Amino acid sequence: MNGTLEAILRRRAVKVFEPVEISPDLREQILDAARHAPSSFNTQPYRFYWVGSEAEKAKVANLCLGQKPAETASALVVVVADIGSLTATSQGQLEWMRRSKFSDAKIRDYERTAKIGRILFMPGPFGIFGAFKWGIFRLLNMWKTMGMPPTSRQDLFKWATKSTSLACENLMIAAEALGINTCPMEGFDGRRLSRYLGLSARHHEIVMVIAVGKKSHAYVEPPQWRRPLDATVTVL
Ligand SMILES: Cc1cc2nc3c(=O)[nH]c(=O)nc-3n(C[C@H](O)[C@H](O)[C@H](O)COP(=O)(O)O)c2cc1C
Repeated sequence: MNGTLEAILRRRAVKVFEPVEISPDLREQILDAARHAPSSFNTQPYRFYWVGSEAEKAKVANLCLGQKPAETASALVVVVADIGSLTATSQGQLEWMRRSKFSDAKIRDYERTAKIGRILFMPGPFGIFGAFKWGIFRLLNMWKTMGMPPTSRQDLFKWATKSTSLACENLMIAAEALGINTCPMEGFDGRRLSRYLGLSARHHEIVMVIAVGKKSHAYVEPPQWRRPLDATVTVL
């Protein structure tokens, strides 16, 4: 079977891990695969907090409600949707384009797109601009086929969560391919974990925590059940 497909089909949410060390090289490969996931407008609106030291891990495991995968993992990755990173990201891409000697026309084109993106994605103070935008776009949509940009901060987090989740899946598949197991978790105290990491409610939302480690020999996986294909797919 194809290696990628094999890693996808082999991956399970592992609930108990062996105490093994994850080398910096392995850590980098796993995180590097995560950031290669596709993202909306290539904005990569996320940040990964790799928690590997014993003391910090114990604190984070506790904030993951003391769940077994969190308590036994070699590392915990707190994955955060970061809507405050957009300006720095577009500046970073612009600098990369200049260094890579993109044509002036291409650079101007990107600058213009980034500027429009910033305006479109800005909810403004108290969401007033967002509400105004929503009204305008709904009106235009009456006679024009078009997509709706995120208009509120909540919309923006929903938008960022899509790209962040794809990066999470890349992380888990890459780990699996490298012989490391994972468990995604949404069972955590988001308020306390955000405070612990020094996150801002304005820009950051924790999407999930991924426990990373080597499956315990003593752990017996339950059989894997999935809805049948025809219950989840419509072919038109
Ligand atoms: C968004 C999300 C949140 C999850 N949260 C938890 C969790 O808090 N604790 C846990 O043990 N498993 C958690 N899981 C793992 C699921 O229970 C698991 O993926 C599912 O039962 C299917 O099992 P499998 O991944 O082994 O096929 C979560 C999975 C996802 C995708």
